[in-house]
Amino acid sequence: MYLDYMKESIKKVEATREKRIKETFPKLKAEEKQELLKNYHPDYKAGTVREIKVGVNKGDLVVNEIADILESYSYLNPENFKYENVDYDVDVLIIGGGGAGVSAALSAFEYTKNILLVTKLRIGDANTIMAQGGIQAADKENDSPAIHYLDVMGGGGYKNIPKLVYTLVNEGPKIIKWLEELGVMFDKKEDGTMITIHGGGTSRKRMHTCKDYTGMEIMRVIRDDFFNKRINYLEFTCAIELLTDEDGKCCGAVLLNLENGKILIVKSKVTILATGGAGRLHVQGFPTSNHYGATADGLVLGYRAGAKFVYLDTIQYHPTGVAFPEQILGQLITEKVRSLGAQLVNCDGEQFIYPLETRDVVASAIIRECIKGKGIKTLSGYGVWLDTPLIEILKGEGTIEKELPAMFRQFLRFGIDIRKEPVLTYPTQHYQNGGILINENCETNVFGLLACGEVSGGVHGRNRLMGNSLLDILVFGKRAGKRAGELLRELPPIKKLTLNHLITYHKELKEIGIDENRKSPKILPDYRKGEFQKKLPFLINL
Ligand code: FUM
Repeated sequence: MYLDYMKESIKKVEATREKRIKETFPKLKAEEKQELLKNYHPDYKAGTVREIKVGVNKGDLVVNEIADILESYSYLNPENFKYENVDYDVDVLIIGGGGAGVSAALSAFEYTKNILLVTKLRIGDANTIMAQGGIQAADKENDSPAIHYLDVMGGGGYKNIPKLVYTLVNEGPKIIKWLEELGVMFDKKEDGTMITIHGGGTSRKRMHTCKDYTGMEIMRVIRDDFFNKRINYLEFTCAIELLTDEDGKCCGAVLLNLENGKILIVKSKVTILATGGAGRLHVQGFPTSNHYGATADGLVLGYRAGAKFVYLDTIQYHPTGVAFPEQILGQLITEKVRSLGAQLVNCDGEQFIYPLETRDVVASAIIRECIKGKGIKTLSGYGVWLDTPLIEILKGEGTIEKELPAMFRQFLRFGIDIRKEPVLTYPTQHYQNGGILINENCETNVFGLLACGEVSGGVHGRNRLMGNSLLDILVFGKRAGKRAGELLRELPPIKKLTLNHLITYHKELKEIGIDENRKSPKILPDYRKGEFQKKLPFLINL
């Protein structure tokens, strides 16, 4: 239920609706976009990034909150850690149970049955199931991977790594076919052809959707396949360090069972990091659309073992996070809402941005509007209106319930009928644009260590387009599993297990005077003012 002063503002939104329907808001020119980004995008705010002082990317700019967890000690003491008792000796260890990890497991399974997947929550508790709006793939007659390629590069500010983009877009159509065969219920026309829609920055309608819960539907199906194959997995068990052998090759991980504090040692020929993103670091205090476990653990693990990063100075803020009610602050309002015709308007009912500009641009425009005093005050900040009733006018009565059933119900619980009233929205931390540098086979610069999905970087440059992360996790998840399988025959035997990389890393931290009580990975977010993190060293049953 909206507060009275909000209802007053809604009257202005209603008053301008008819006029707005007749007008097409102009798209921004390239130089106008740059100006907007420079002035209002959070990435450009002074003091929010710093040069990292240790490790292989020493001297590069990294978002402060990520630099904090990288410039931290391990929970383990590498000088006296005992490696003798190996609990699991596997061919492939996969760290992360979201879409990337599960699809990596499915394709590694073609090569070996000796796989272990570990996840700190449950299989499927990941950003994948939070993905709402769709998955891109150029499989329509008026489209092609080449056109998709250009859109991805444009969205990423042409900073994307071309070979990764090439791989992403070329494998898109195959991924849709694979998902359909597995049983994903994509939205279709009566004649059975796939419905595809636009997302921000797409020049063709190539977003394949499952209502407004596309990620959940995809996860449902690939998780079923994972369980049916009886692949080994451990839940509520997180990796707290990678292991390297005497040659510096990655050869497994140290795990922590979060339920009993037991430490487990996994020796593996190949290790795949698929740990997802960083939303729960709440960069610059932003709320997040991410799941509870998105604390960037894989970045910490990989970096300490020597894996290089790319673009960790940029974060994606989804333009339309929930700004009201506070109970669901920061949760995603899918871009599909704008794709269906909803416009963004300020407190006076004025449109201020073309709704399907790329996310970085739309987020900046919303922030500008609020800074200019044209936002609507909420209990914790500001928001602008996303005029959802327009959808019913433009696309016909019943469209919202049909196309956005999850969102419709979510707001109704708080007394807001989005068919009749607009929603209040503000940018929310959504995606880690950068990450561990990989090649098209998901190999990092550390032998034996692969990475896929959100923990990796370079595919999306400095700004990802909607629907390309679901594609990314499946394309590169599958490739990581395949490459892991191939590597089983190519890699030399593992030598003695060590934490040598950690000895070097800790030495660097000491040299720059980092407080030894600063520990990472975070594992879970810090909502209890560090209580969980403080307890961790004692929980660990060494
Ligand atoms: O807006 C959305 O539905 C988000 C999708 C994505 O991040 O790809």
